[in-house]
Amino acid sequence: MLQAPVRFELIKRCSQTEARRGRLFTPHGVIETPVFMPVGTQATVKTMAPWELEELGAGIILSNTYHLHLRPGEDVVARAGGLHGFMQWKGAVLTDSGGFQVFSLASLRKITDEGVRFRSHIDGSPRFFSPETVMAIENALGADIIMQLDECPPYGATRSYLETSLQRTLAWAKRCKAAHARPEDQALFGIVQGGEHLDLRRRAVEELAELDLPGYAIGGLSVGEPKPLMYEILGHVAPLMPRDKPRYLMGVGSPDDLLEGVERGVDMFDCVLPTRIARNGTVFTSAGKVVMKHAKYREDFGPIDPACSCRVCRTFSRAYIRHLLKADEILGVRLTTYHNVHFLLNLMREIRKSIEEDRFLAFKREFYDRYGYTSE
Ligand code: GUN
Ligand code: ZN
Repeated sequence: MLQAPVRFELIKRCSQTEARRGRLFTPHGVIETPVFMPVGTQATVKTMAPWELEELGAGIILSNTYHLHLRPGEDVVARAGGLHGFMQWKGAVLTDSGGFQVFSLASLRKITDEGVRFRSHIDGSPRFFSPETVMAIENALGADIIMQLDECPPYGATRSYLETSLQRTLAWAKRCKAAHARPEDQALFGIVQGGEHLDLRRRAVEELAELDLPGYAIGGLSVGEPKPLMYEILGHVAPLMPRDKPRYLMGVGSPDDLLEGVERGVDMFDCVLPTRIARNGTVFTSAGKVVMKHAKYREDFGPIDPACSCRVCRTFSRAYIRHLLKADEILGVRLTTYHNVHFLLNLMREIRKSIEEDRFLAFKREFYDRYGYTSE
């Protein structure tokens, strides 16, 4: 029997909530969970060198099948030694399957049981993704964790559409498992869909659990539904998922969503939020979000966040960073990105510690008291 590429160990459970403290063993390091994965869509976490991610304590980053297939092509990445060699990242990598990006970026999409036909958003060329082609691409990219091809239906889809779509996603999970050519060093994760219908979500969990995959994700959330509904669905679905496997909530990662997700039993998160808002000059601070370009920071010589221990906050003033952003200097968005990624990675460190010491709910309350209860 070959050693599984990814092994999950539960270390501690919260006595008041579903929160879990775990450890994910991958071919590229041990990941302490709950974990936030910075997003590096095109084999780069925008503006950040890999040594900076390492310095911040990132253990795993996410990248994207759709983008890397279109440019530069998985053959190029494979010849560079896979994503790790290509981007010179020593930690773990997870690739999303591309289904979600086809639906948000590509044009002329046509989905059938066989797969999804679409045109590239870069040059309009016709393309086809099926469970088999996506597994071949993800095998070539060489991430430690690879996601199945799924369909992420929009919020507001009818029940009948969600049912058909879920059947397809479940059939695709089986086909992905059959087509996966590197099960010895890449872990294939299944994705639970089903919209807001708990019976569909339950069916998804049960059928996916039968495949005995090394991990499972919850997809189809944060697609426009109100946050309370997302939390309600999560509260029902996460506890149904296999206890001994990592649970990954896809595309979710504002500070409040991380806390609410952890409380409901989620182990892994990813989101473009910290890096995206950084590029328009917004930063997370312990007292809530701050828009750095605001005139009131023109002569503010204090740090972005006095409570932050990151290199940016130890070095630069709000006035300087505001000036860089106003002048469109590249360093400005590099500094805000660095700080924001630090902020979320540090929040996860504090969350993990609070679970270890069985004071997660108290920690959550203290965080909200400082940060504010508004969303994001
Ligand atoms: N990213 C955010 N949500 C989803 C989803 O439902 N499926 C996939 N594949 N990626 C996502
Ligand atoms: Zn900072």
